[in-house]
Amino acid sequence: MIPDTPHTPDTFDVSGVPAVLRVQDLVVAYGQHRAVDGVGFRIAPGESYAVVGESGCGKTTLARTVLGLLRPAAGEVALEGVRLDQARGRDLRALRQRVQIVFQNPFAALNPRMTVARLVDEPLRLAQPDLTAAARAEAVSALLTSVGLADRFLGRRPHELSGGQCQRVAIARALAMDPVLLVLDEPTSALDVSVQAQVLNLLADLRQHRGLAYLLISHDLGVVRRLADRIGVMRAGRLVEEGPTQQVLHEPAADYTRALIAAVPGRGRAALMGGPEAGDEAGSGAAGGPAPGDGARADPSAKPAPAPASGAAAVPASELSAPSSIGSSQ
Ligand SMILES: Nc1ncnc2c1ncn2[C@@H]1O[C@H](COP(=O)(O)OP(=O)(O)OP(=O)(O)O)[C@@H](O)[C@H]1O
Ligand SMILES: [Mg+2]
Repeated sequence: MIPDTPHTPDTFDVSGVPAVLRVQDLVVAYGQHRAVDGVGFRIAPGESYAVVGESGCGKTTLARTVLGLLRPAAGEVALEGVRLDQARGRDLRALRQRVQIVFQNPFAALNPRMTVARLVDEPLRLAQPDLTAAARAEAVSALLTSVGLADRFLGRRPHELSGGQCQRVAIARALAMDPVLLVLDEPTSALDVSVQAQVLNLLADLRQHRGLAYLLISHDLGVVRRLADRIGVMRAGRLVEEGPTQQVLHEPAADYTRALIAAVPGRGRAALMGGPEAGDEAGSGAAGGPAPGDGARADPSAKPAPAPASGAAAVPASELSAPSSIGSSQ
């Protein structure tokens, strides 16, 4: 389904495998305001890359551009070597299937009128239109199993589920599209503390078993420590530091990164600084590092919510096919 656009040589790593995501010199602006200003990074197949930074630094703008929902003012976004920023129409829709997003608020992301069975069946129909109804029912059941939900949930609607269960359904919907990259925008921050660790464990398992790559966006350095191989630290639209997770957390190069870590309250920070195994001591499968919601949030200067849309180069609605519109079916 990937459009037949030639790969350019620089999309390949030394291994000859194209990066799942390559972002280069990216600029995304709302009017005059450059919310993303010259960002570049790569995510290898199966890699989990976290973008951290304070509120308003441009994380969600970056995510929406990677999803093909916003057009960059300059720079490149390539998925498996194919330029997303240049794609249009059917090519763009096909590329967008390869990237799926899991939103912060699972209730808002699911149509309250649909049963779990329909919610998972819907993207499956788009991804595999040739499947028979019986094969789809089997696939829906398998997807739910893979996110830890039994068949008895099939007939339930979102209001009959807990937040964690809703997030599992949202993850199953994303997986139904068979993506190579999952964008996780604060995937656990709206959940009860008690279920955050379970959802993090699920995300860690899914990556391992499916070879998925993640672009993780989070304020919570505990979540990042648990899920990310590498971290990019973003400030005011720019990446100020990038490196392996342990290195960035233990030997931050930028003053700004040090400030983010220093802003994490004591207990959370102590857990954050534990060795690579330190978080796994909780035998119940609790997340590594500080328990999410345990105060490891890196947001020294939270700002008010962003202003309403004002002229960012949004992709026309006609370009936005249902496959990735997990959040828009309410
Ligand atoms: N639709 C929009 N129209 C105009 N400005 C916007 C819009 N969305 C975001 N911005 C501005 O762009 C900048 C980056 O916003 P963005 O939502 O990407 O930040 P963020 O890092 O995701 O923040 P948070 O951690 O609070 O979610 C902010 O200054 C914000 O006010
Ligand atoms: Mg955001």
